[in-house]
Amino acid sequence: MQVVTLIIILFFCKASEFRKVRRNNRGNNDKSNSSKRSSSTVKRYAPRLPCDIYTYLNEKYLDCQEKRQTTVQNDWPEDLIHILLSRNKIQIIKDNVFSKFQNLKSLDLQQNEITKIEHQAFFGLKRLTTLLLQHNRIKTLSEEVFIQMPRLTYLRLYDNPWDCNCELESLVTFIQIPRHRNFGNYAKCEKPAELEGQKLKEITPQIICQDEDGQPKPLEGPKVTRPSVDSTLCHTYLYPIATLDCRKKELQQVPTDISPDIIKLDLSSNKIKRLQAKEFTDIPNLEILNLSNNGIESIDPAAFSGLMNLHELDLSENKLCNFQYGVLEDLYFLRKLWLRDNPWRCDYNIHYLFYWLKHHYNVNYNGLECKEPQEYKGWFVGKYVRSYYEECPNDRFQVHAGINEDDWEKLEDTKHKTQIESAKTQGVLLTVLTP
Ligand SMILES: *[C@@H]1O[C@H](CO)[C@@H](O)[C@H](O)[C@H]1NC(C)=O
Ligand SMILES: *[C@@H]1O[C@H](CO)[C@@H](O)[C@H](O)[C@H]1NC(C)=O
Repeated sequence: MQVVTLIIILFFCKASEFRKVRRNNRGNNDKSNSSKRSSSTVKRYAPRLPCDIYTYLNEKYLDCQEKRQTTVQNDWPEDLIHILLSRNKIQIIKDNVFSKFQNLKSLDLQQNEITKIEHQAFFGLKRLTTLLLQHNRIKTLSEEVFIQMPRLTYLRLYDNPWDCNCELESLVTFIQIPRHRNFGNYAKCEKPAELEGQKLKEITPQIICQDEDGQPKPLEGPKVTRPSVDSTLCHTYLYPIATLDCRKKELQQVPTDISPDIIKLDLSSNKIKRLQAKEFTDIPNLEILNLSNNGIESIDPAAFSGLMNLHELDLSENKLCNFQYGVLEDLYFLRKLWLRDNPWRCDYNIHYLFYWLKHHYNVNYNGLECKEPQEYKGWFVGKYVRSYYEECPNDRFQVHAGINEDDWEKLEDTKHKTQIESAKTQGVLLTVLTP
């Protein structure tokens, strides 16, 4: 039998493809890189200010995250659309400090040390839709602070030590208005002891005021304590893409209360051993899911059901031996799949995974290498599957557009991802094997 291999590589305009690759990589980049990405528009605003000001998709950002800021500077430009001030040292928000930012749409003040917000603090923010105040030290707030922002749609208040006494009544009432369904979800009382752990969204406002009379407090049913599977342990970031960062939180399960607008979910380095059916159906917009380094042993065939928009799935560093039939069926738009460092077992049960990848040749994957049994250890799974069918010469005939699986893997394994992506977009590799 003679094998003739024909390789045709067509090169397209390099420059334009490079741009494409860069854009495709967007989801992978963290914040520090997102500002670099639009480097052509980055300006150091003033020498004494270490914050970046940049324009992205025609909206002006001030990125002043983790810069040890203690106050709002009064020389920031008025036409900002987004202000990112997370992870600073701000303690008090004074009246009118934001009043000149009339076009501001989002204000991120999470992970500061805020204890006090004056009543007129957000005065003038007529267009603000998103206000992030989670992970601070706020004990009490009045509704008055928020009524100046008629367009407010997202308000995050969790992980603050809320003191659920009469002073908090107006806020509790305010966030419970049905129209405010994205206000203060997951915020919980820290005091008084009887209400500890109760959600502000769920307590009856009148109850917190009865305390004043010294009356015994009628509680609504037993206190519900849930195991540590709620997402309040995680950090939320809204720009450049809505991300829930749950890395290293000792989670044993996927949190059940993830906001449906999350696009990127990072669950890496937790202790999730198995994925149950329909774990992610509440987050249908998810595009990037990182489950690496969890010790996952099994994945229910319906675990990923509903993830129609998922582009990237990282399952590296787990304990997977194979995929049950069906696991990948819902992932119509999957483009990248990380599989390395799993104890893949090369027997008949691995064929589903291999054939799924073969038929979805635009899914770029890596790390599918046999670890078991000993005789196939170190083989690429593709080689093992071909050897399984060795007796059948008809299977040798293939016309395959794209780069064949082994080549992808070799390239991926040498960590030349960028080159692969550009190779993929720049050329078509045609392999013809004839008997
Ligand atoms: C960020 O960009 C730099 C180059 O600008 C690169 O070396 C680094 O790997 C990038 N980091 C991430 C997380 O993409
Ligand atoms: C997933 O998380 C791990 C550990 O945090 C990280 O090394 C890896 O790059 C992440 N994968 C993706 C696709 O971002």
